[in-house]
Amino acid sequence: MTQLRGGAAGSHRRGHRPPALRGQRPGQTGRMALSTDHRADDGQAGAAGLAAPPDPRDPRGLRADAPLLDAWLRFSAQAQSGELTPMSVPGHKQRQDLTGAVVAADAPLYGGLDTIKHADVLLAEAERRAARLWGADWCRFSVAGSTHGNQALALAVGSPGQQVIVTRCLHRSLLLGLVLAGLEPVWVLPERDPGSGLPAAVAVGTVRAALAAHPGACAVFLGDPSYVGTTGDLAGHARAAHEAGVPLVVDAAWAAHLGFHPGLPPHAIAAGADAMVTSAHKALPAFTQGALVLARTGLLDPARLDRAFEATHTTSPAGPIVASIDAARALLARDGAELCARLLRLVAAARQRLAQVPGLGVLDGPGVEPTKLVVLLPGTGAHGNAVEADLIAAGMPVEMADRDTIVPIITLADDEAAVARFTGTLVATIERHRGAPRPPVPSPAWTVTPQVVLPPREAFFAPNETVAADAAVGRVSAELVAPYPPGVPVLAPGEIITAEALAALRTAHAEGGRIAYAADPGLATLQVIAPAP
Ligand SMILES: Cc1ncc(COP(=O)(O)O)c(C=O)c1O
Repeated sequence: MTQLRGGAAGSHRRGHRPPALRGQRPGQTGRMALSTDHRADDGQAGAAGLAAPPDPRDPRGLRADAPLLDAWLRFSAQAQSGELTPMSVPGHKQRQDLTGAVVAADAPLYGGLDTIKHADVLLAEAERRAARLWGADWCRFSVAGSTHGNQALALAVGSPGQQVIVTRCLHRSLLLGLVLAGLEPVWVLPERDPGSGLPAAVAVGTVRAALAAHPGACAVFLGDPSYVGTTGDLAGHARAAHEAGVPLVVDAAWAAHLGFHPGLPPHAIAAGADAMVTSAHKALPAFTQGALVLARTGLLDPARLDRAFEATHTTSPAGPIVASIDAARALLARDGAELCARLLRLVAAARQRLAQVPGLGVLDGPGVEPTKLVVLLPGTGAHGNAVEADLIAAGMPVEMADRDTIVPIITLADDEAAVARFTGTLVATIERHRGAPRPPVPSPAWTVTPQVVLPPREAFFAPNETVAADAAVGRVSAELVAPYPPGVPVLAPGEIITAEALAALRTAHAEGGRIAYAADPGLATLQVIAPAP
């Protein structure tokens, strides 16, 4: 499936007037009159058709199809030429003699990329183009990652006290979304890859059974692909959810490139999901924090989606972030198939190279997203944290490493030379750390079997106390504790703290893993629900 187009794209929100992207508007005068005219000349090659050399700031000429990018390019050219005397935020006023170059690319969406009164229209036009590309009815650009997108979607689907069917391999952001929205999870567990112990997809039958047992559930939330790139039958899940009359919502944080090449699985919206969140900054060449929230509006109300989105989004979105999402969308629309073809080739070559290393495994097969490389170390005896340390020293930080697994992220921005350098260095460091083969021990994030006592929201707000970790076993957790990455909660508010979970967290900590969100990251103490007075 390539470049999915069509669908009833359009903005349903805020009574937007149709985007007026050309010409100066009344009241736009003076130095801050930032025209949204695509053809406006800022001294660089602008829209397509001008016989000028390519703008080094926009080497692929994306601005002609990317209104926010175009506006950012124009604003930054004005700022650099000293034309602006802004009497508005941000407080650095485009000067680099105070905090320095760290603010160099910054520009506010409101009052930078366009006037405070008009930037909404520019943003809506960019979001409309993204909705069309993904075949959605509704799209918003977030500057707060899939974290914010997950929470917005949790706030959009139901009312406090309603149940939702949710994978227990969820990212911690969605669990906090359930706290915010007061939704009560009905947990479903993924299948397990027998060789590695890593999570596979949630089976459709599991979700059907949960829906049948909980007819009041208002939505199904799945993560697909999973953190380790395993994918499931999203079309089957969509059918199951729709037969129950509820929306399927997919956290596709790692999958903004899916659906743009026949060798890749379709993206969640194309597979029939009602909503998806994806991090433009993960799989696409976009600024850190940039994310898209996309939805079909049959089972979801666009006004409610907007309210939910705005509830926890900043009122001051960073211009470079939204402009880079717009640019990444324009890039995917035009060059996505070609770039994804290269990505598929690169990862296939890396898999082939790594498969030659004795004892080394790579997660593979029909249920694995083909551009995700998950390296399995147990057969080599090498410890993932030692391998990671060498890779960091070589200037090649990876996304995740634990004892048995290394997860590098390879994207559209990588080329043959970079991937060959990485695989060569990885193989050499594995050889340096080679030891006796061992059986895999899956991260505690993948083995949680929750014993729920209280809904997450109730537990989050309940009186709590801090106790020695050993004394916390058998008590109800007040806090969310997650080894990060992958950020899947091992302890969640309202769930029993088991001896196994505590032991696994201690092992992860002792091996150098980061134990995130715990009040005591050293795990000497834990916070538990206080007994009733
Ligand atoms: C599955 C999943 N969902 C959501 C997120 C949050 O994404 P972001 O960092 O864009 O907020 C992550 C982050 O790693 C993730 O792995």
